[in-house]
Amino acid sequence: MSRAYLSCIDPACGQSHPLALKMPKCGACGSLLDVAYEFDRVAPADLRRLWRDRLSTSHAADRSGVWRFRELLSFLPSTISPVTLGEGATPLVEAPRAGRWAGEVRLSAKHLGANPTGSFKDLGMTACISAALSVRAQVVACASTGNTSSSMAAYAARAGLPAVMFVPHQGISAAKLVQAAEFGARVIEVRGTFDDAFCLLEAVAAERSLHVVNSINPFRIEGQKTAVVELLEQRGWRAPDFLVLPGGNLGNVSAMGKGLRELAALGLLDRPPRLAVIQAAGAAPFYRGWDSGRAIEPVAHPETEASAIRIGRPANWPKARRELEWTRGLVESVTDGEIAEAKAALAADGIGCEPASAATVAGVRKLRQRGRIPPASEVVIILTGHQLKDPDYILRHQAGPEDKSHVIIDADPDAARRALDTLLAG
Ligand code: F0G
Repeated sequence: MSRAYLSCIDPACGQSHPLALKMPKCGACGSLLDVAYEFDRVAPADLRRLWRDRLSTSHAADRSGVWRFRELLSFLPSTISPVTLGEGATPLVEAPRAGRWAGEVRLSAKHLGANPTGSFKDLGMTACISAALSVRAQVVACASTGNTSSSMAAYAARAGLPAVMFVPHQGISAAKLVQAAEFGARVIEVRGTFDDAFCLLEAVAAERSLHVVNSINPFRIEGQKTAVVELLEQRGWRAPDFLVLPGGNLGNVSAMGKGLRELAALGLLDRPPRLAVIQAAGAAPFYRGWDSGRAIEPVAHPETEASAIRIGRPANWPKARRELEWTRGLVESVTDGEIAEAKAALAADGIGCEPASAATVAGVRKLRQRGRIPPASEVVIILTGHQLKDPDYILRHQAGPEDKSHVIIDADPDAARRALDTLLAG
């Protein structure tokens, strides 16, 4: 069994902490924490075979696309069974039309919207809620733009834990709000931004013994990193040239980078893909700060129609910077108009996703135009959320009275014939 512990990410501190630490940050200096491992030495071929063989069992942990790779997540005590809803095992699909649109790249999409609650958050939440049980957390809580809260609500329900979510008032899609409501989460709508909601949660969490499950919780990152393991397995352990993600609070890019580093250390990966983070132009503090190499300047009033990434003060930026430096990464920003075009380009391939996810393809096109991604590169985009997470966005962009592909008729064959003539003309 490998040894696991918590480790401060600030090299000037570097303090180690036991896994059962109650707070999500370093007690010595307040920086973010990593779950660190001393892995047992196993031959790469043996690990690959072990993970593949688990696909044919009916054991719940083997069915999970997170816990199937449990050698990389050896932090749960043997007394705790993972809280799983069968997350992971998501498709990798080619997107040839979107690839042409983005500038002649060989594009495929890893669709994490195919998770139980419709977003990549489930990968992190199964790990985080399981870890919360191991420290006997009483109430779990998060601030959210809507996906973290839906996921927390589902996994907390499964674990029998009460959950509280702090969300920006009128700042998250109705679909995400109703998901959490059905799972019984308590909702606190904050008049303010996601960042205000997050600050508020941090201010009261300790005094009210709330166990914070945002991506500053290092166990979230552990679950999310498995997306890259599954992706590489699906690609026969051949890395693409670029792996492109939308960036909000920057937990997911931190997770991908950590997963890649660990795979490299275990001999499962020769050359990492270059990571690229795409932010929405009105909420792009990381994009703006990347070149300066200094602490980022928060954006007080983040603005974008892609509400999932409407974040002005990304909590994980030091981790994200570390992973981008290691992979010679890229950061780009795209306008809401570019996101809408990219979403349509993906739809032409039959691939739906939420607006934040489509920012990736818009970013690939921009990086192609700037010459940062060469033509014919192999590019994998991470689609983070399901198409139906934000139906209002689609209605606003697609289905107005001027929509020529949608008619309402009486139940009459002649009306049906006329409608078909109109709809299929040309
Ligand atoms: N895409 C979607 C669909 C998201 O919901 C999020 C984040 C991101 C991308 C950005 O990921 O924060 O790891 O950089 N949603 C969080 C939430 C903030 O509360 O649901 P990140």
